[in-house]
This record gives sequence, C-alpha cells and structure tokens, in this order.
Amino acid sequence: LKLGVLASGSGSNFEAIAHSIAQGQLNAQIQVLIYNKPKAKARERAERLGIPAILLNHRHFRSREALDHEIVNTFKQHDVEWVIMAGWMRIVTPVLLDAYCDRVLNIHPSLLPSFPGVDGVEQALAAGVKVTGCTVHIAKEEVDSGPILMQAAVPILPDDTSETLHARIQVQEHLIFPRAIALAALQYSE
Ligand code: GRF
Repeated sequence: LKLGVLASGSGSNFEAIAHSIAQGQLNAQIQVLIYNKPKAKARERAERLGIPAILLNHRHFRSREALDHEIVNTFKQHDVEWVIMAGWMRIVTPVLLDAYCDRVLNIHPSLLPSFPGVDGVEQALAAGVKVTGCTVHIAKEEVDSGPILMQAAVPILPDDTSETLHARIQVQEHLIFPRAIALAALQYSE
C-alpha cells in the first residue's frame, strides 16, 4: 500500500503508522507527508523518519478546491494510492474525495457518530458521557462522516481534563489507525 499522509499538527498518528510499517505490522510505505502549517511538528517527525514532507499552506490557495487539486497532484506525483488524514484540520472537497474514491481515511477522537467536528474530546466531556474513544472511517464529504472501519473505547475518568483524556484517546488512535488501514485495503480489494 502506498500511503500519502495529510497532517496539520503534531503528527503522532503519522509517526505511529510509520512505526507500525517499520515493525512489519503494516505492509505499506509512506510515500510523502503533506502538512499545511509551516510550524507543524509533523514535519520534524518526517525529517527524522526520512519521509519526504511537503508544505502546502492553505493560506496560499484561493479555495478549498484549489488546495485539494494541489494535494491530488502532489500525491499522484508520488504514486500515492491511499490518503491518510492524520489530524488534517481542513475540510476536504470532492476534488480529493473523487480522485481517491473510498481511499481517503480519517481519524477522529470520539466514537462517531457522536461528537463530530473540531472539538470531539471537549464535546464528550461536556456531555458527561462515561465512555468515549476514537474512530477510523472512510471520509465522505460531510465532516467526520462515512463508513466506520474501526473504533476503540476509552473511559472518561472523574478528574479528566481535555488534555488527559485526549492523551489516553491518542494511545488508542495509534493502535487502531495502522490496523484500520490494513482492513480498508482488504475490504477494498474484495
Ligand atoms: C487526533 O486526536 C485525531 O483524532 C484528530 O487530530 C488529532 C491529531 O493528532 N483528528 P496527531 O497530530 O496525530 O498527534
């Protein structure tokens, strides 16, 4: 599987996928990382991992579609077959979703369909639910929607802040994302 990763921030999921590949648990290669914020920590991780990283700053594009066109061009140039949104904080359009139909995966820090949107962790805390988690799904046009591939549950503890809870959710994200990628590829080829 030739993967192209999209990340906006820390990139811990990106690195977890790279480790899973290095350990022989996921039969794939990360062809390229695209990041959209010049200071994204994901870039440093890519450098350390020896993975090419390309900055596409969304501010330099006139529309979401224009950004997605450049993402598709870049991924095609790097032979990418599957698109992995690992903390990509931009809304993607049919320009990307149609170019990689059913091959765009997203991770979200809640048990979808509960709590979609930017603040999935805070929403779960505010709702007072006792269990939340994370979801890997095939991305569709509506934000945080699409067929679910894998989920992991995480209990909410009485003293949790959004930071402590998000940290525990991320432990699970790092476990399920590589496995969900393998599952998606298996389902797709059937
Ligand atoms: C993750 O919690 C993911 O669910 C959300 O953004 C976060 C990205 O974390 N979409 P990282 O950049 O992979 O560390």
